[in-house]
Amino acid sequence: MAEHTIKKIGVFTSGGDAPGMNAAIRAVVRTANYYGIECYGIREGYNGLIHGHFTKMGPRSVSNIINLGGTILKSARSEDFRTPEGRKMAYEQCQKHEINALVCIGGDGTFKGAKVFNEEYGIQTICIPGTIDNDIFGTDTTIGYDTALNTAMEAIDKIRDTATSHNRVFFVEVMGRDAGFIALNSGIATGAVDILIPEQKDSINDLFDTFRKSAKRGKNSSVVVVAEGEELGNVYELAKKTKEEFPAYDIRITILGHIQRGGSPTCGDRVLASRLGYGAVTGLMEGRTNVMAGIRSNQLVYTTIEEAIKKHNTINKDLLQISEILAL
Ligand code: F6P
Repeated sequence: MAEHTIKKIGVFTSGGDAPGMNAAIRAVVRTANYYGIECYGIREGYNGLIHGHFTKMGPRSVSNIINLGGTILKSARSEDFRTPEGRKMAYEQCQKHEINALVCIGGDGTFKGAKVFNEEYGIQTICIPGTIDNDIFGTDTTIGYDTALNTAMEAIDKIRDTATSHNRVFFVEVMGRDAGFIALNSGIATGAVDILIPEQKDSINDLFDTFRKSAKRGKNSSVVVVAEGEELGNVYELAKKTKEEFPAYDIRITILGHIQRGGSPTCGDRVLASRLGYGAVTGLMEGRTNVMAGIRSNQLVYTTIEEAIKKHNTINKDLLQISEILAL
């Protein structure tokens, strides 16, 4: 490893928590300690940065957390950090504790904060993509996405059991904010009759056609997976319109909600988080700043925060066609 000037770094988690964040914290703390860098955990994201909630972390402070959901550092969406006064206080805390580099784990809101802080005060920053939504450009997947996907899949499998027993139609809403990754992939994995995501223009008549066709093919029950950001309507509106069109249908609604944010991370998320935590610290040691560590085609890569914020992770259109064909 090349010579570096990093002596003390801070690490925090911010925005919506995601399974695997603890594995990332562990990797940051242990990599830093391995290379003789002091590491401070910052509690509750940018709020902790503003108020100086820093705790020195050694390798033993992150024992037995690789398998835990949530984040031991806690998380928050900080309103105060959006203000110049809040960021000034955060800078003063960094100076006081002689922290000149930060590892910021979170989604695009976290990244925007890191970028502006870097530009205003020159603090070296590296971001790690941690969000179940998988909506970050510059990495094939984000920490937490695989776990959330598997949680959604298991839940929808269970819904299918009861849907089949009662010949019912279920509209299941999954998370993802404005992105349809969880919906599309959990829908394919559970054989949903239709999947509605914001990245695709859907029409209510297409949905009705799908119901008619599947009835003709002898299907007695259906599960429709709907992304929370779907523009055609939410699950209540879609269920209402469907009932008006097909009065005989016995329709139920399930919103999976925050169950998708919790739980023990999958093997994939633990390994991803470990690689990115390591990559963030070694990236800082190489002098990188204002970038995000990601994994693309199984390689550790760094993308500028500017690009990670501006561009979007795109849905694989093949999956849309596959989902349609396989719902035959
Ligand atoms: O970004 C993660 C996420 O879980 C989104 O999928 C969802 O829209 C949002 O956070 C929910 O946020 P909150 O936990 O503040 O309700």
